[in-house]
Amino acid sequence: MQSAALGGSEPGCDLRPAARQAWFAVGLGLGLALALLWGGLAWAGRPTTVRLLMPAPFADATAELVESFNREHRGLRIAVTRGPFETESVSDLAISSLLLGDSPYDLLLMDVTWTAKYAAAGWLLPLDDWLGPEPLAPLVAGARAGNIIDGNLWRVPMVADMGLMYWRTDLMAAPPRTPTELVAISERLQRQGKVRWGYVWQGRQYEGLSCVFLEMLRGFGGNWESSGEGLGTPAATKAASWLRQLIVKGISPAAVANFAEPEALQSFEAGEAAFMRNWPYAWQELQGPSSRVAGKVGVTMMVAEVGEPPAATQGSWGLSVLAGSRHPAEAVQVLQALTGEASQRLLVQRWGYSPTLTALFDDPALVAERPLLPILQNALESVALRPLNPGYAQLSDILQRQLSSVITGELEPALAMERAGRGSQLLLEASGRGSEQ
Ligand code: GLC
Repeated sequence: MQSAALGGSEPGCDLRPAARQAWFAVGLGLGLALALLWGGLAWAGRPTTVRLLMPAPFADATAELVESFNREHRGLRIAVTRGPFETESVSDLAISSLLLGDSPYDLLLMDVTWTAKYAAAGWLLPLDDWLGPEPLAPLVAGARAGNIIDGNLWRVPMVADMGLMYWRTDLMAAPPRTPTELVAISERLQRQGKVRWGYVWQGRQYEGLSCVFLEMLRGFGGNWESSGEGLGTPAATKAASWLRQLIVKGISPAAVANFAEPEALQSFEAGEAAFMRNWPYAWQELQGPSSRVAGKVGVTMMVAEVGEPPAATQGSWGLSVLAGSRHPAEAVQVLQALTGEASQRLLVQRWGYSPTLTALFDDPALVAERPLLPILQNALESVALRPLNPGYAQLSDILQRQLSSVITGELEPALAMERAGRGSQLLLEASGRGSEQ
């Protein structure tokens, strides 16, 4: 009816074009409204994506957790970027995106040594107002350090890490307690043809070497102070000399100068060495089908000439929210899920990572399943921290260069450590963080 009237067939009727225009306008309006409604619905249905950068091993270990989070949260999705393996390379990747201004990440899984620098640069969101009172209270004491800087909480650890000594239970009744004992046992076993090497460790010029060194520095009575000082000391020379002597005496292969964690693990796993320095994750690998030492490995703390208990370098990986995140609330939600009890339990059970939560160390069923837990907890009580200094990456670089020259026999330990001490001092002074003297 209406259309007949509107489309009236009377020739010359001047209502016709106007009616057509009206129809057109109504149609257009309706179409637009529908399109907007459709688009809006589609938009509302699209989940918020929280982007997270992690080193490759953690991207693998958390894949299952991320998948189930994404299944359970319809409006929220975690997208993980699988970063490189080594801590420095992951940090370089994160920093290059942060320097460009608009980082593609909402969350970073950070090594404990990055926090001071990232916080000072203003790259991180303080978490205090998001996580309620005392968010670190459920953590064992050794896992709390390195997250609060200048009174703000910047990071929540997902796993703890501490330097450990792995030893062969089939070759000795008890592990050595001192560096001298480690050398003596190694030489005996090598003489007897039981092992090719005594001790394998991380001697490559990278962060792992600083971790190895810190344990020995403490073991010879020194310390790498939180100020960054302590490298130009007699204890530092003793520690560097000891590491060099291991190679000179053939207790460690000259190739340790190129060993990071995986190479040391490979050698120990193949049954080549009596002792290995590594982190907790190595235990699980050593029990695997490719290991020739499964069931023949004990774990204890590093040897020390002085100081009881010996020091274990504190590692640990934790989550921080980037200040530039467009979804801070959702990022915090993801942070809580991945650092929470269920997540940490799975990371212990499946991957052998160390938890940070007291509740998990105190869980008898979990301890029965993972008898290493009390050893890890014990080691966490005497962790040695690397300096919590915004210039840490440079301090560590100075140390690694000098140590590397010692390990390869290019420089005398005393001279190298004097240089490391002086280099650190200059750096600290230039950044206004030197000591007052
Ligand atoms: C481990 C530690 C980390 C350390 C790194 C060195 O990942 O958790 O703190 O910097 O090893 O290789």
